Amino acid sequence: MEIKATSGKLGNLRTKAVVSFMFKEDRKFNDEIQELDKLLNGGISLLKKEQRFSADEGKFLVVPTFRKLKTEYIIIVGLGSKKKADLDTIRRAGAYIIRKSKELRIDKIAIDIKNLEALKEKEEELAQAFSEGVILGGYQFDKYKKNKDKFKVKEIDIRVSRRFKSPTEKKIKIGKILAQAQNFARDIANEPGNVITPQKLAQIAEDLAKEYGFEVKIYDEKKIEKLGMNAFLAVAKGSENPPRFIHLIYKAKKPKKEIALVGKGLTFDSGGLNIKPGDFMRWMKSDKSGACAVLGIFKALGELKPDIVVHGVIAACENMPDGKAYRPDDILIAKNGVSIEVGNTDAEGRLTLADALSYVSELKPDTIIDMATLTGACVVALGEYTAGVMGNNQKLIDEILDTSEKTGEWMWQLPFNDKLREHIKAPNADVLNIGKTRYGGAITAGLFLEKFVDPKIPWAHIDIAGPAHNTSGWYYHPPGATGFPVRTITSFILENSQE
Ligand code: BES
Ligand code: ZN
Ligand code: ZN
Repeated sequence: MEIKATSGKLGNLRTKAVVSFMFKEDRKFNDEIQELDKLLNGGISLLKKEQRFSADEGKFLVVPTFRKLKTEYIIIVGLGSKKKADLDTIRRAGAYIIRKSKELRIDKIAIDIKNLEALKEKEEELAQAFSEGVILGGYQFDKYKKNKDKFKVKEIDIRVSRRFKSPTEKKIKIGKILAQAQNFARDIANEPGNVITPQKLAQIAEDLAKEYGFEVKIYDEKKIEKLGMNAFLAVAKGSENPPRFIHLIYKAKKPKKEIALVGKGLTFDSGGLNIKPGDFMRWMKSDKSGACAVLGIFKALGELKPDIVVHGVIAACENMPDGKAYRPDDILIAKNGVSIEVGNTDAEGRLTLADALSYVSELKPDTIIDMATLTGACVVALGEYTAGVMGNNQKLIDEILDTSEKTGEWMWQLPFNDKLREHIKAPNADVLNIGKTRYGGAITAGLFLEKFVDPKIPWAHIDIAGPAHNTSGWYYHPPGATGFPVRTITSFILENSQE
C-alpha cells in the first residue's frame, strides 16, 4: 500500500473516495464538503439527516456520487467530541477507515487532514498518526486460513496544506516504519509455540542481523551454562526445545548513547510443574511478546538508523513440566551470584530476566529497559489495555510515560516500596521468586528484577501482560498480538539519539 502526501482541492483529487472528518460539535460540514454537497444537490446533507449521522467516534456517512463528481464516494468519518480528541483519535480513525475501505472494496482513497485545527497538532504529526493507524488497523494474521480476504487498498493520499507537503512525506515514512515494525512483532507473537521455538526465535534474530547488518550473538545451552545463567537454564530444563540466549547489537557510527533492551522470551508458558489450569494456559504462546517487541524495535532501528547503540537481549526458552523440569523449593544461583529460592515454577519470566538483566548490566549501558508479559497481577491492577512501568530512576520512567502519551500506548507507573521489598525475602536464599501474598504481585515481580540490575544504571521495567495480547481487539489492534510497546520504545530511542 502506498501512502503519500498531496495538496489541492478535495473535489479535484483523482481518487475513488474523498474522506473527511467531522466532530460531534460541528454544526455543518467544512467549506469544501459544502461545495461538493451543492454539486450533489444537497445529497450529503440529506443523507446525514436521514441516517441521523451523529459524528460519534468511528461512525460513517458513506455518500455515493453517482458519477456527478470525479470521486465515486464522499465519506464522512465521525471523530467524537472535540474535547476528548488528540493524536490517537486520528490514529484510531486510520484504522476505522482502512477497514471501511476494505469492506466497501475501495482501493484508492484521499483523506483530508487539513481541517483539524481543533487538535492543535501539526499537520505532519497528524499524517504520521493516521498512517500508523492505517497500517496497524489493517493488519491481519491469516496465513493459516484457507478463506482469506485478498482485497488490498492500493493507495492512500493524505491531503495537507501545500507548504507542509514535504515534512509530511517524511513523517508518513516514519509512521510507516514504526507501524510495520509493530506488525513484524505481531507476526512473530501470533505464531504458536510449535512454530516459534527458542531456536526459531534465534533464527529470526539472525535473519534480521543479516538484513540490516547488526551484530548478533546466539548462545546455546553449553554457553549459557558457562556464562553462569543458571536461573534461565533452570526454567528451560523441562522442555524438549533447547534454550537460546540472543544478543543483537545495533551500532551507529557516532552514537549519542547506549541503551540495552531486554525482552521476556517464553515461547510457551505452561506454568511448569506448577502447571496452569487450562483457561489460564490459553494464549501463553504470547509470553514471548517482550522478545517480539525487541525484534520489532530492531527492525525499526535498521530502517531509521538513529545515532545510538542499542543492545537487544532475549533469554528464549519454554516453560514445561517434565522429569527434568525445575521444581518448587529449588535454589538457583543467578549470573550475578544472587541465590534464588523457587516458590512457584510459573513465576519463570523473572528467572529468565534475572540472568538477562545481569548480563546487560555488565555491558554498562546508559539505560536498561525490559519488556515482559510478567504478571497476571499487573492486568488485575491496570486492566488489559495499560502496561505497568516500574524502575530505579524516576527521570527515565517519566520519559517513557511522556513518550507513551504521544504513541497512544497506555502506561502507568506502579510504586516500589520497602514494605513490599520484605515480601520477596526467602527462607533459604537471598530472594524468593514469588511474593508473600498475591497483593502487589506486579510490584513484587519488579522488585525481584531490581536485584539483578546494577543500581548505578537507570532501569525501567515494563509489564505488558495486559496489552501484549487481546482476544477481541481494540482500536487499531485487531484480535491477537498487539506489538505493544514497539512504537513507544522506538520513539524513546529516537529522542535519545538526538541529544
Ligand atoms: N506469563 C505469566 C504472566 C501472564 C499472565 C501473562 C496473564 C499474560 C497474561 C507469568 O509467567 C506468570 O505465570 N505469572 C504468575 C506469577 C505468580 C505465580 C507469582 C501469575 O501472574 O500468576
Ligand atoms: Zn508463568
Ligand atoms: Zn510467563
